[in-house]
Amino acid sequence: MIEFPQHFLWGTATSAYQVEGSPLADGAGPSIWHRFSHTPSLVRDGATGDVACDHYRRYRDDVAIMRNLGTNAYRFSISWSRIMPRGRGAVNAAGLDFYERLVDALLGHGIEPMVTLYHWDLPAALDDLGGWLNPDIAKWFADYAAVMFRKLDGRVKMWATLNEPWVITDGGYLHGTLAPGHRNRFEAPIASHHLLRAHGEAVKTYRTEGRHRVGIVVNLEPKYPASDDPADRAAAVRAEAYMNRQYLDPIFLGRYPAEVRELFGEAWPEWPADDFTLVRQPIDFLGVNYYTRGVTRFEPHAPLLRAAPVRQTRSTYTETGWEVCPPALTDTLVWVKQRYGNLPIYVTENGAAFFDPPALEGHRLADPLRVDYLRTHIRAIHGAIAQGVDVRGYFVWSLLDNFEWSHGYSKRFGIVHVDFETQKRTPKDSARFYAEVIASKGQVLNDS
Ligand code: BGC
Repeated sequence: MIEFPQHFLWGTATSAYQVEGSPLADGAGPSIWHRFSHTPSLVRDGATGDVACDHYRRYRDDVAIMRNLGTNAYRFSISWSRIMPRGRGAVNAAGLDFYERLVDALLGHGIEPMVTLYHWDLPAALDDLGGWLNPDIAKWFADYAAVMFRKLDGRVKMWATLNEPWVITDGGYLHGTLAPGHRNRFEAPIASHHLLRAHGEAVKTYRTEGRHRVGIVVNLEPKYPASDDPADRAAAVRAEAYMNRQYLDPIFLGRYPAEVRELFGEAWPEWPADDFTLVRQPIDFLGVNYYTRGVTRFEPHAPLLRAAPVRQTRSTYTETGWEVCPPALTDTLVWVKQRYGNLPIYVTENGAAFFDPPALEGHRLADPLRVDYLRTHIRAIHGAIAQGVDVRGYFVWSLLDNFEWSHGYSKRFGIVHVDFETQKRTPKDSARFYAEVIASKGQVLNDS
């Protein structure tokens, strides 16, 4: 029998560069994503975040949509370069005002904000100084975080330092598919380490500047071996250490997994022991983004991991090529509890890009695959709660179709459709379904 707890948070999630638009308005400085998207051929169809969902100007309407869905939480990120146009030093009051107005609008509708301080849009001025490769960035990040804590702590009671350090490093420094677009095996572990130090500095700062809760958001993708062959098993362990434990082990256990050191070989730097004291600050919650699992086999020629994904013939795949596998979400949440302890968890992103047909009669938009995705994954979360995992909330990725990074606008994750010509918002069937889940505290999942 499914029924979610009374105080469970039901939310949606977005990030600044993906929805706001107007990236240089009111004194903001450019971010690495502004530069990346304005560099020809790096983003599909030459798309940029110049307009995106125009949320910077339409945020009140978007908050009204959230309220109509019955959500009681919203996860969004702050654009660092709106607050500090050059990444450090002078603070731009107009940038702070925007987020203050957004937070007040949310609170006015009974929607609890969860703020992510960094969702990939580094101020370009800091990238000019080396970005995540410069050890000073931990301090720059904590200074920026302190500005936000002083301004909004109290009204904001849930703070996440970073969104998905693995993606920042793997996409931004190893494979070059995301800003700043580097491809360098020697840089990747350095960027990861400074991300973790920056997280630690921000948590430390929060303990003096803030009085509520601070955590981090990671993307977890459990890896399963394609067969019982020991080589496949070892490949899955390597892939899982690289993607999941590389970040969680330092945060909770104060060390990197041995497998990750081995993978990087001569590119692996040694770090001072003190760094791990900093990284291992106690946190108040963990945000888990879950989209898919990986079934993995040994592939001797694959760089770094010597592992390759194996497509599952009986599974559904999303438009981004991700296998739909709800049971792996339950497994992941249980794994976190077993390995790192029973701290409060929020599923801070979960959702899917599917092809959406045109709206029927101009208003209804049928997205049955996304409805099914939400149904089965919310059930999977209940399954983890039933096994004693302290899951406190769920945030659908995403409220709106938005700028899907290097895919531009070609992948739609929203439960609300956005017509990018007119900015018209149309709730999809998945939005209606989510509203029913919320209104019934999940009980509707017992009948369907
Ligand atoms: C990110 C989002 C992104 C989503 C879908 C996550 O990795 O946090 O920004 O849009 O996945 O790709």
